[in-house]
Amino acid sequence: MMNFAVFASGTGTNFEAIHEAIEQKELPGKISLVVVDKLQAPVIAKAKQRGIDVFCFDPKSYPSKSAYEKEIIKSCKEHGVSFLVLAGYMRLLADDLLSAYPNKIVNIHPSLLPAFKGKDAINQAISYGVKVMGVTIHYVNAEMDGGKIIAQRSFDVTDDLSPEDIESKIHAIEHELYPETLKKLWEEIR
Ligand code: GRF
Repeated sequence: MMNFAVFASGTGTNFEAIHEAIEQKELPGKISLVVVDKLQAPVIAKAKQRGIDVFCFDPKSYPSKSAYEKEIIKSCKEHGVSFLVLAGYMRLLADDLLSAYPNKIVNIHPSLLPAFKGKDAINQAISYGVKVMGVTIHYVNAEMDGGKIIAQRSFDVTDDLSPEDIESKIHAIEHELYPETLKKLWEEIR
């Protein structure tokens, strides 16, 4: 069973979906720690309600990125974490974290990468008028949304879909695809 940490900065609906998949016995794993870089993020309460430890930090209160990444690694090691799942964590990882967990860090992004990297990917794609949209799960490297792709799921953007419909569809895909992909991945690396 994989002992892992979820990294998030905001709402935490992907965290909830992954936790729910574990509760439903669809995903063999344990979320031992939630790492959050925003003191007010709603994901903090969601994790605590579920009895999961939270490492919450304010990046500005550290002298460097390396300083807070070292603290994150320390907390992850104390919690026996062997895999990192980024779910709406709005921060690039640097050397300390990347070398502490080589090939053991994944992220979810709401576009069909390599298109529409970075913030506001859904609206970037809508403004472009793309006819196929989707979600990507990929390994994490030092570049924004840059690592090798593990899984993608797409849908046709038909004329009847409003921007709100599109957003709901993306999130619904994310909440299915992330637990499914983690399950397959962990079976492969077992
Ligand atoms: C998701 O759309 C994810 O793809 C992106 O950030 C969003 C996080 O949402 N990286 P939530 O915090 O899981 O609700």
